[in-house]
Amino acid sequence: MTEPAPRPATLPDAQTVTQVRHWTDRLFSFRVTRPQSLRFRSGEFVMIGLPGENGRPIMRAYSIASPSWDEELEFYSIKVQDGPLTSKLQHIQPGDQIILRPKPVGTLVHDALLPGKRLWFFATGTGIAPFASLIREPQTYEDYDQVILTHTCRQVAELEYGRQLVESLKDDPLIGEMVGDKLRYYPTTTREQSAKMGRVTDLLRSGEIFTDLGIAPITPETDRAMVCGSLGLNTDLKEILEGFGLREGANSEPKEYVVEKAFVG
Ligand code: A2P
Repeated sequence: MTEPAPRPATLPDAQTVTQVRHWTDRLFSFRVTRPQSLRFRSGEFVMIGLPGENGRPIMRAYSIASPSWDEELEFYSIKVQDGPLTSKLQHIQPGDQIILRPKPVGTLVHDALLPGKRLWFFATGTGIAPFASLIREPQTYEDYDQVILTHTCRQVAELEYGRQLVESLKDDPLIGEMVGDKLRYYPTTTREQSAKMGRVTDLLRSGEIFTDLGIAPITPETDRAMVCGSLGLNTDLKEILEGFGLREGANSEPKEYVVEKAFVG
């Protein structure tokens, strides 16, 4: 009888967890080492995962939440108690390994938009992840006069990851000066009392968001948009943006807005 082959010491495409932060009982963020050869455009996603019971890895798409210049990679995730991946992933600790396939892709990239003056990032829930990358990307501020990040969540605590990130930017030694007062942040909640309540879709339809921000409504001449949230949000926002005269773009054919579905567990 032959002995079973020894298990490899490291997983293929393994990266090491460097930091984990739990934001609520449903949300956490973590940082991992970055493969030296990995180049990506801020806003793109990769497949990450863990080994499964049968030796086959369980992989899911995750937007990279850190900017392209960061020496580590950051991710922002939901915790689903019976989710095949996140039921396990939520327990990772610094020093643990995850699998990361170094093939970044995605449509929420500057290349997919025509030049404009104002850039909107519309996020719900964990859909803020690609924008966590893009609001730390110098090109965002080189290319636009104004950047508006909207984030709609059910509860106030679910806004905290984005709120702290936006808050930290003004003191960021690398891009704080570029951000200056170009970035506007518009958080809303739908199921818990907060300073601003309502779905961003309703606030756009009523025009309330423009009044609140003291700005002119969206036009195809000046405005560009990126959308990342649930299927429902994406469908509704597409209709709203098309109503303002914006057209959906892609890497191969840049236009006025782009959409991507947020990772949902
Ligand atoms: P609501 O509480 O009114 O459903 P979820 O946790 O279900 O992914 O939702 C995250 C946030 O996105 C919630 O505040 C939710 O509002 C909002 N949302 C869900 N669907 C839409 C939609 N079609 N348009 C706008 N906001 C939406």
